Amino acid sequence: MTSVYLSERQRSAIKTLPKVELHLHFEGCIQLESIEALARSIDQPMIRRTQDLYSFKDLEEFLSTLDWICNLVGSEHEITTLSQSLVNYLRGQNIVCAEIIINPSHWRLSLDSLLPPILAEFARAESQFGITLGLLPSIGRHQKNADAMQLLDWCVSNSHPNLRGFSIDGSERGGSRTDQFVGAFKKAKESGLGITAHAGESSGPQGVVAALDQLGVDRLDHGVRAVEDPGLMSRLAAEGIPLNVCVSSNCHNLYPSFDQHPLPQLLAKGLICTINTDDPAMLDINLSSELVAVADAYDLSLGDLKQLQLNAVGAAFCPLDNKAQLARQIENEWSAIT
Ligand code: ADE
Ligand code: ZN
Repeated sequence: MTSVYLSERQRSAIKTLPKVELHLHFEGCIQLESIEALARSIDQPMIRRTQDLYSFKDLEEFLSTLDWICNLVGSEHEITTLSQSLVNYLRGQNIVCAEIIINPSHWRLSLDSLLPPILAEFARAESQFGITLGLLPSIGRHQKNADAMQLLDWCVSNSHPNLRGFSIDGSERGGSRTDQFVGAFKKAKESGLGITAHAGESSGPQGVVAALDQLGVDRLDHGVRAVEDPGLMSRLAAEGIPLNVCVSSNCHNLYPSFDQHPLPQLLAKGLICTINTDDPAMLDINLSSELVAVADAYDLSLGDLKQLQLNAVGAAFCPLDNKAQLARQIENEWSAIT
């Protein structure tokens, strides 16, 4: 079904309107052609038939596919090339502000080889194309406190204007294990980094509560299973904690269909939600297609989509003057489409 509130003209304008995305994994943006070229360059057979590469049965199989992809990369030059193709993707979507999660535990490159080339490309794209780009290094749920401290220490000693947040992702099915990361996240917050956590995807409401109380999150990645606890939804609304929601991704890993996804309930309860793609290359989606799909599934208007974009500006970790400029740009350009 298509949204009765979205005209054909508005639907096609979405691709060119300026957009913001806050929940996007560097690893999940690597295009299939790049993966095939990387595998060929080191004579590595594909892990599965190419057409089945993205057919995974659950989050864990998906995460181990990311490990395999990232292990094909062995040089800083390749990281630069991947960063450039990510920037090209963002520009093609007219994404004017993006915050990108990268989890070094997927990679065999050291932090010193992995992170600086991405930061350099982000800085270059900011000045050349005027895109606001933040990198959010992330620890995996399966890791140890020592790994979190090592990543945080790297971030603190290599402070960079595009290094804007600290994150945790991965699967919580082996337990949320949040208590061991309390010290690292406290230090990250004190260092001025924005704090975000994957919770309420492979964990229920208790994972969201742990992210709030133990990690001190500024926002949540997914967070959608908060819908199972009305008291928690009221708390998230009252505290104004944004949820970076990824409907298509959740419909691969969590819910059987868009009909079963709780986005409408979360919005009705007054939670601040943003719309994101999580791992667009692996899910074969992009932010424009996701916005149209969400509008169609939940009968949203262009004005509703504009508000979701403004929510993302509000939740971004970039400097305040950037946020004000982004909000003006989105307000003006989205309102001009009637
Ligand atoms: N890493 C990449 N995508 C993820 C997801 N949806 N959940 C947890 N970790 C991830
Ligand atoms: Zn994610």
